[in-house]
Amino acid sequence: MSHPLRIALIGAGVMGRQHFQHLQSLDDAVLCAVCDPGPLAAEFARECAVPYFADLQLMLEQVKPQAAIIANPNGLHVRSALACIAAGVPVLLEKPAGVNLDEVRELVAASASRGVPVLVGHHRRHNPLIARAHELLASGALGRLTTVTALWQLQKADSYFDIPWRREAGAGMLLTNLIHDLDLLRYLCGEVRQVQAFTSNGIRGFANEDSAAVLLQFENGALGSLTGSDGVAAPWSWELASGENPVYPRQTEQPCYLLAGTQGALSIPQLKFWHYAAADTGWHAPLLEEPQSCRRDEALSLQLQHFIQVARGQVQPLVSAADAGRTLALLEAIQQAAATGRSCAPALI
Ligand SMILES: NC(=O)c1ccc[n+]([C@@H]2O[C@H](COP(=O)([O-])OP(=O)(O)OC[C@H]3O[C@@H](n4cnc5c(N)ncnc54)[C@H](O)[C@@H]3O)[C@@H](O)[C@H]2O)c1
Repeated sequence: MSHPLRIALIGAGVMGRQHFQHLQSLDDAVLCAVCDPGPLAAEFARECAVPYFADLQLMLEQVKPQAAIIANPNGLHVRSALACIAAGVPVLLEKPAGVNLDEVRELVAASASRGVPVLVGHHRRHNPLIARAHELLASGALGRLTTVTALWQLQKADSYFDIPWRREAGAGMLLTNLIHDLDLLRYLCGEVRQVQAFTSNGIRGFANEDSAAVLLQFENGALGSLTGSDGVAAPWSWELASGENPVYPRQTEQPCYLLAGTQGALSIPQLKFWHYAAADTGWHAPLLEEPQSCRRDEALSLQLQHFIQVARGQVQPLVSAADAGRTLALLEAIQQAAATGRSCAPALI
């Protein structure tokens, strides 16, 4: 058996520590350093019994990690990943891949030219229930996918915004949260041709939006809507419905995505598949509900196990920098549509 992969953690805040918890339960990887200039990170490194660094370059030179997890603020993602790539270190980069498409293009080019893989942390794609939904859609069980309804409506506590970067440009609900939903919509329903959108900061009044309504036209002809808000007392979101993270009390019955096609429909995360017993029946016949099963497993742990294989060169990343760049291009089209009141198409990457 090969030696455990030596992984450095760059950014040891809420998300970085979650990655560390999953890392601890794996045999084939170990934490080798913590790099984070923040006031709590040195103590965390001591608790983990690994060397502490405030400076990324110094950490890369002295520790020579075999891989790195980057979970620092969004605006630092690309520059941190570029430093790792230059040192030949494969990266698990938290989402969003970057805060604008131009910098993500630079990341894609660096990863390709140096042959150093980047896996972007759109971890929901690793969730077995999404894998099952993807399989069902790919099998054609829904017929022609026609309408897509996505909901991300919940309430963040005011204290969430005590951390300054979460209020500033480069954060915001679209880049921090809806990017997950947009990534899944691309993954499950296909690429988006164009969008129309409205955004509002009417609840919190920060520079970033707290609410959004988006209309989507997919390249396969399906039409969709995504409504989101982080300031409403509502149960409809992946976080509350999926049970993926126990810190959010679960709303087992509430869906967050409803996908309807000419032969059937699917609610997520319940994985209820609806269809008629025979073709050519319609609304006077009973619609059958067929629950789909899938194994339960931690998406973040599965993502980390996949990353270890990526870093060892055994598999290609499930979500490459270019793929995540296409999700960011969709997000930028939404921002542009909201700013101009026009329909906008995602840019090519
Ligand atoms: N995949 C998910 O579901 C998910 C969930 C939450 C957050 N995230 C992402 O994880 C990232 C971190 O979010 P968070 O909520 O943990 O934020 P956080 O503020 O809790 O943690 C960020 C950490 O980065 C550190 N940091 C600041 N500058 C740094 C630098 N130059 N180098 C290294 N570290 C630095 C901070 O000191 C802090 O400890 C964000 O990109 C966010 O979008 C992903």
